[in-house]
Amino acid sequence: MLVLGIETSCDETGVALFDGREGLRAHVVHSQAELHAVYGGVVPELASRDHARRLAPLVEALLAEAGVGIGALDGIAYTAGPGLVGALLVGAAYARGLALARGLPALGVHHMEGHLLAPQLEADPPRPPFLALLVSGGHTLLVDVRGLGRYRVLGESLDDAVGEAFDKTASLLGLPYPGGPALARLAEEGDPERFRFPRPMTDRPGLAFSFSGLKTFALNTLAREPDDHATRAAVARAFEEAVAETMVIKCRRALRQSGLRTLVVAGGVGANHRLRGALAELGRAEGVAVRYPRPEFCTDNGAMIACVGARRLVGGERAPAGLGVRARWSLETLEPPPGA
Ligand code: KG4
Ligand code: ZN
Repeated sequence: MLVLGIETSCDETGVALFDGREGLRAHVVHSQAELHAVYGGVVPELASRDHARRLAPLVEALLAEAGVGIGALDGIAYTAGPGLVGALLVGAAYARGLALARGLPALGVHHMEGHLLAPQLEADPPRPPFLALLVSGGHTLLVDVRGLGRYRVLGESLDDAVGEAFDKTASLLGLPYPGGPALARLAEEGDPERFRFPRPMTDRPGLAFSFSGLKTFALNTLAREPDDHATRAAVARAFEEAVAETMVIKCRRALRQSGLRTLVVAGGVGANHRLRGALAELGRAEGVAVRYPRPEFCTDNGAMIACVGARRLVGGERAPAGLGVRARWSLETLEPPPGA
């Protein structure tokens, strides 16, 4: 089954072709980062307009790259949430319109299920059960994954998502949006001994996260110290160390509690080198395999949506009529497809 996947939940327009037998055939992403950079964050109305402008030409480019005619499609999957409603509606309306015109099934996919299963795009995919750490601009989740549509959320952030904390702290450091990668680069130059940031919520049991305090800690440190490059770099370094160690502590707890032997890390912050290094060390110490999608599939993309869509469509799932996009949508409400 050849499925077109469409991702428009935030500031990336992503499209991909996934074949149930052959796997990923092609994928293309257009990032709107430059469009939003001057505003220091994603402007929802601009995001929707840009998706509307880009989506159809991007699908044409994708089909041309794969050497596939539109008549070869067997189904269409689009991100139905969670995300920016206006942005989601662009992808949903396009997908549903195209599906109707071509007589194809269309299915709305959960964005975080896409991130969860992004490592399945690789040649030797991790098999459930596994523990997933989802770390993106909108979410910080620890999930017990037993199979497609079988998810239990073990812990999540009570306030800012970890990517959001990266972006807000980066903004305090005068770095451009999106701040995560820029903060990581600055941290490389920072003195690791100069500041120590707290490891939020690690001194009590449980798997919940809280990151908004780190941003405040950065703000107070910057106000107290000389306003120079060395200070900013040391703050970036201390922030990153605090995030990485907090993640390690919570993942260790979740692995020991659940007895799971594989840790899958996905979402944009999964591209962070310091976090990766710290989790690799945890994996060695605990005898646990740590798996990632390739870097281009850590951040938002259409391939993960096409992949989930193909597996659910093959499993016999069909969407009810209507666009049905959702700003908020719990992973735990998902179910396996009927044929699973
Ligand atoms: O998964 P994603 O592309 O989009 C969402 O669904 O949110 O994640 C984007 C987030 C942003 O907050 C960005 O700053 C962060 O991932 N990010 C990073 C790195 N690359 C992207 N944060 C830290 N280090 C990185 N290398
Ligand atoms: Zn995402």
